[in-house]
This record gives sequence, C-alpha cells and structure tokens, in this order.
Amino acid sequence: MQLADIDLSDSRNFAGGVPHEWFAYLRREAPVQWHRDPNGQADGFWSVTRYDDCVTVNRDYEHFSSSRAATLFTDMDEDNLAQLQLMMLNMDPPMHTRYRRLVNKGFTPRMIRDLETKVVASTDDIIDRVCEQGSADFVEEISAELPLQVIADLMGVPQADRHLVFDWSNKMIGSEDPEFMVPPEYSTQASLELYAYADELCAKKRLDPHADLFSVLTQAEVEGDQLSPLELDLFFLLLAVAGNETTRNLISGAMVAFFDHPDQWERLRADRSLLPSAIEEMLRYVTPVMHFRRQATMDWTIGEQRINEGDKVVFWHTSANRDETVFDDPDTFDIGRAPNNHMAFGGGGPHFCLGANLARMEIRVMFDRLLDRLPDIHRAGEEQHLQSNFINGVKHLPVAFSPSVPVGR
Ligand code: HEM
Repeated sequence: MQLADIDLSDSRNFAGGVPHEWFAYLRREAPVQWHRDPNGQADGFWSVTRYDDCVTVNRDYEHFSSSRAATLFTDMDEDNLAQLQLMMLNMDPPMHTRYRRLVNKGFTPRMIRDLETKVVASTDDIIDRVCEQGSADFVEEISAELPLQVIADLMGVPQADRHLVFDWSNKMIGSEDPEFMVPPEYSTQASLELYAYADELCAKKRLDPHADLFSVLTQAEVEGDQLSPLELDLFFLLLAVAGNETTRNLISGAMVAFFDHPDQWERLRADRSLLPSAIEEMLRYVTPVMHFRRQATMDWTIGEQRINEGDKVVFWHTSANRDETVFDDPDTFDIGRAPNNHMAFGGGGPHFCLGANLARMEIRVMFDRLLDRLPDIHRAGEEQHLQSNFINGVKHLPVAFSPSVPVGR
C-alpha cells in the first residue's frame, strides 16, 4: 500500500465497508496527512487519524473552528454556509455555549427516563410486526423504526407525521448513495415544508404546552434570552437528522458485528449484566459517525505537523476508535472490554453528543428485547453498506429467526 492509493474523500471507497486497513496505515505512517482534493476544486484537507490528535482537535475549539466552514466535509457556498452556521453543531463558543444552555433545559436525564417506558413499548411493537414471519430486512423493519418513533415522541411530533418529517430531513441532507440520491430541487422544497411544519408545531406548543422537548424549548429562557423561531426550526432539523440515522446504523452495525462474532452474542445471552459494556463496545466497534470537520483559525500544529490558518481539518472518530496505542486488539469485538474510552459521541469537546444517553437507552432496550424475543436471530443474506464517508451505515440486512407469537403490549 502507498499513501497515493488512499482517497478518503471519495464515498465509493466506503461502499464495501470502512477501509480500516487504510486508517491503520495512516495512523502508523502519516497520522496528520495532507490529501489533495482529487477534483481540484478545493485546496485539500488534513486527515487526522490518531486518537490523541482527534481528541485535541475536537476539544480545542479556539484553534479548530466548527463555525468558519461548518463541520461537514463538503465545502459550502456562502448562502448554505450562513444557514448552517445557525445550527448549534456549526457554532463556536461563546455563541454555542448560550445555545447549548438553552437546549439543555429540554434534554434532562428525567426526560430520558420518562421516555423509557415508551421505548420499551415501541420496541415490542416493532418486534411484534415481524416475529411471526420468521424473517425480515433488519434495517427497514427493525433498526430504522425505533429511532424514528423515539425522536417523534421526544420532539412532540404526532406518530402519524413521523415519516413525513424524516422524509423531508432525508431529502434535505441528501446522500451520496445512488439508492437514496435526490435532485437538488427536491431538497429545497423539502426544507420549505419542514420549516413550515416546525413553525406550526412550535406555535401549537406555545399555546398548548405538554411535557415534550419542543414545548419546553419554546418556553426555555436563560437570563431573559429565548430561542428565536428560526433557531427552533433549525434545532428541529438537527434533531431529526442527528438522532435518526446515527442510532439506526449503530443498531444495524452492531447486529452485523454479533453475526460475525456469534460467541459474543452467546456470551451476552448468558450474562445480561454485560449489556452496559457491550453497548460501549458496539459504539466503539461500529462508530456510526465516521468524521467531523473543523477549520484552523491560525497557524498551529497537530502532533508534529504544522498547519496553516484556514486549512480544512478532518478528524476520524472511526480511526481513533481503532487506535492500537489506546485499545488492545482494536479489531476484536469484545463486549467485556474495559476500559473503553471510545469517541463515538465525540472526544469530550463542547459539542459532545447531546443525545448520548438517549441513544444508549434505545440501544439497551433494543438488544435486551432482541435477546429475549429473537434469541436465534441470524444472517439470511449479505448486508449492503451505505455509500458514504460520513455515516458508517447498513442499507439492508436480511435476517431470519424462529417464528414466535406477538406480545401485543
Ligand atoms: C448512536 C447514536 C449517536 C451517535 C454515534 C452520535 C454521534 C454524535 C457525534 C460524534 C456528535 C459530535 C460530537 C462532537 O463534535 O464532540 C454528535 C452531536 C450531536 N448529537 Fe449525536 N449521536 C447519536 C445519537 C444522537 C441522538 C439520539 C440525538 C438526539 C435525539 C443526538 C443529537 C445530537 C446533537 C443535537 C448534537 C450536536 C451537539 C452540539 O453541537 O453541541 N445524537 N452526535
């Protein structure tokens, strides 16, 4: 292998799964590596692949800005950038701090605890729909449904509207995978419809507040400061996107990991007290969000490497989580792994995943119910990967299991 063979910008190189051998090579030979833009449109980007360097870039917001060019790999035109910069993911402190304090008001541990009963009922309902047939597309019928239902409940979106909302958000963010590509005009139309929907929902919540997140957020106030209607719209979109594909692909990717390591499935079946460490290992091993992007605010260094102000810096959670200097046998899926200080939810910087505990709860409930209700679940065909260098995703996963009767909660 040679450095010149490695192209992390082209999503087609991820179509068969994460190219872990490339990341291992980069960590060893060129941990902070300049990649030219193969299309010659942008200057190129630094790729950061070692755990410690990724954590540094994630935490040091003064030198590595989330706002200057936003956090996505693709370079934006000015209009799109200005719009993205109104989303908390693409803000730097102190603006981010103000925003995060407001939304934290709605994301309390109590709110997540209160959702758990509903999450258990949703999970049983999802399994009820497939358990008699003895086979399913795990992604479409099992893992995609739970995050959709949970986010709808969290946001206060009626369940009947959930597919509408997620269809708009999927069209807006687009996809490089040929199966999900949409023409740009669809994406503009979808954004108008989604914002109109969010405006209406917030107006309703103002008049008739309940215990859901958007009822809380429309009222939330920190030192006399409130979220504006546009900020509420953009937070609505961020949640619809951030809480959905990530959790779905964690559940699907972990199922694949168990199929590849049946001893670990049996180990968890035999000892359910391993579930908390198993969840952390699923997160490390799968790492659904593979990278984020920052922009250097001044000339600086990462490790030994000098970089210049304005340089694009991409740090790879997926590589950090397989760093052999931090994790013993990083390519082994070991549900009892300890310690396991992975960075699937970020490296402890100001943007650390707001939904981390909600996601952990969903994963716990889903695997707990699968172990109880479909204990002999197994692969019934090859899985298909999502073509993306951002989300480590599974599009389809045929599975089979012994048919059983619904529990009908
Ligand atoms: C397995 C599931 C999930 C994974 C792997 C994941 C991963 C991430 C990552 C890597 C970040 C950026 C962290 C950083 O830069 O330090 C993030 C931020 C965020 N996540 Fe998650 N996430 C998941 C589930 C969720 C859920 C369920 C929600 C909401 C319901 C959510 C909401 C958010 C939000 C709002 C942010 C932005 C926080 C900020 O900018 O301050 N995520 N997530």
